[in-house]
Amino acid sequence: MFFKKKVVETIDPGNVPQHIGIIMDGNGRWAKKRGLPRSAGHRAGAETLKKIVVFCNSIGVKCVTAYAFSTENWNRPQSEVDALMDLLYNYLQQVEEQFGGTNVILRVIGDRSALSDKINKAIDHAEEYTSSNTGLVLNVALNYGGRDEITTAAKAVAADIAEGKRKPEDITEELLSGLMYTKDVPEVDLIIRPSGEYRLSNFLLWQAAYAEFWFSNINWPDFSEKDMTQAIIDYQKRNRRFGKI
Ligand code: IPE
Ligand code: IPE
Ligand code: MG
Repeated sequence: MFFKKKVVETIDPGNVPQHIGIIMDGNGRWAKKRGLPRSAGHRAGAETLKKIVVFCNSIGVKCVTAYAFSTENWNRPQSEVDALMDLLYNYLQQVEEQFGGTNVILRVIGDRSALSDKINKAIDHAEEYTSSNTGLVLNVALNYGGRDEITTAAKAVAADIAEGKRKPEDITEELLSGLMYTKDVPEVDLIIRPSGEYRLSNFLLWQAAYAEFWFSNINWPDFSEKDMTQAIIDYQKRNRRFGKI
């Protein structure tokens, strides 16, 4: 008797990417195709994130960093920015429903100073609620920009030098890595961008140095566990040389 092997079983458990970055793109186009407002696409995208994160946790991924709002997304029409902020607030506020029982640790990365007090409180609540979990770390990148992250690190080092706490020759890659939002999670192994765009859009610039990339035409709300499985299977076929031969 032949049984068709489930696709997920073709993942090599010994070579699962430890940290996956996801650029959650295509929400607007997903909604437009269905004659829905863009906000409906963002809502659907938020549901997809939960599903994908739970799946990643179940196969042994240690960290997912999900790009939810970039430092450039403020340049969208105010109505869209407001809708996105409302959605993010509700998502964080409903952390019990979203992530209760999943063992996922939720963290927000990015420049929180530009976010409202209301959202900052919701972030504190969500982080606190999941802080004793022991599973996958979900970094939600909110008002995040890779250049902003590197600039902030440069300012911190410059301030230390000005105060005489460090010397210019103390600046190493390790020092700078330790100043990034990702300092306590594994290296980014894989970056996924759906929706048919082939760019980073300011996502994880420092961390992407040796990440593998995976692109697909699917809009983020339609992204399934099967797509994630395919991305990981393709990742496992890559020969990561890190400059060696
Ligand atoms: C990604 O979806 C979500 C955010 C950038 C907040 P988009 O809103 O960019 O969707 P498209 O690219 O217009 O389809
Ligand atoms: C990147 O998507 C940001 C997020 C997914 C949060 P965008 O839709 O903002 O990127 P561009 O403008 O197409 O590069
Ligand atoms: Mg987009």
